[in-house]
Amino acid sequence: MANQTRESAVALAKELFNLSGRVAIVTGGAGLLGPMHAEILAAAGANVVLLDLKNGKAASEAARLREEYGTDCIGLTTDITNAGDIDAARQEILGHFKRVDILINNAANNPDPIGLADLRFEHLSLEHWEADIRVGLTGAFLSSRAFGTEMVKQGKGVIVNVASDLSVIAPDQRIYRLDGLSDDEQPVKQVTHSVVKTGLIGLTRYLATYWAQSGVRVNAISPGGVYNSQPIEFLSRIEQLIPLGRLARKDEIQGAILFLCSDASSYMTGHNLVLDGGRSIL
Ligand SMILES: NC(=O)c1ccc[n+]([C@@H]2O[C@H](COP(=O)([O-])OP(=O)(O)OC[C@H]3O[C@@H](n4cnc5c(N)ncnc54)[C@H](O)[C@@H]3O)[C@@H](O)[C@H]2O)c1
Repeated sequence: MANQTRESAVALAKELFNLSGRVAIVTGGAGLLGPMHAEILAAAGANVVLLDLKNGKAASEAARLREEYGTDCIGLTTDITNAGDIDAARQEILGHFKRVDILINNAANNPDPIGLADLRFEHLSLEHWEADIRVGLTGAFLSSRAFGTEMVKQGKGVIVNVASDLSVIAPDQRIYRLDGLSDDEQPVKQVTHSVVKTGLIGLTRYLATYWAQSGVRVNAISPGGVYNSQPIEFLSRIEQLIPLGRLARKDEIQGAILFLCSDASSYMTGHNLVLDGGRSIL
């Protein structure tokens, strides 16, 4: 096969990350990272739908993206754990855009702070367990079923599941310790985080082969921690576990999102792309 011409390579370099005209859905679109995912997709030309329980913020973020990038962005109030809500969102999105090209399963349950020791395995309530699994896994299942099925009908689409570094390593509970508390009062990373994030990799692999012949690619990203005003004591402990010596800035996840949502990753499916400053290689 002949080498590419310069012109075709230049055209490819421009087109690989171009999402013009594509319709992208971001669940948990009103949190810390959802708006960042939405922003890079809109900047690449996509029309973005932000789904969240928090309507005010999803709608205001969508308005900001419309203004900033000139693409058609909307915010919808949707509880992704509710099949009826998901179906209503599907109908509204298809009515408006006629298609769905990209789904980012990003939402996670971060309830208001509860007693720190209540997160410990021995005390974690069934209610808390079920709430975390419902958002993280059931929500991703319902969203993938509704929107992935539309992609199958189109013969093309992309799903990205947002896991975390705890999809590939265990939590190091020592980094969460607080002075002055006994061992059984110490805060921990709750078990549901490990279970949900590892489960999302299972969903990723399952759908990657299930829809491989339907033109739908399914990948995951596993970011490490992102700076968000964490206590200095915690930061100094976790930074020592990371070869790059720091957490991520929230804009450092955007490159992976754009890569996996675009044709630049057209030969990738079933992959878990780890962005953790090297933490999981130690
Ligand atoms: N922030 C980090 O350091 C970090 C690191 C690694 C992975 N992650 C993952 O990235 C994703 C986004 O994280 P974040 O920091 O932006 O979290 P966040 O808590 O700021 O945002 C999550 C969003 O999901 C929404 N949500 C919760 N339940 C919902 C439901 N039933 N229906 C619809 N929306 C719902 C919330 O309202 C919130 O806006 C999560 O999956 C998280 O686990 C975050």
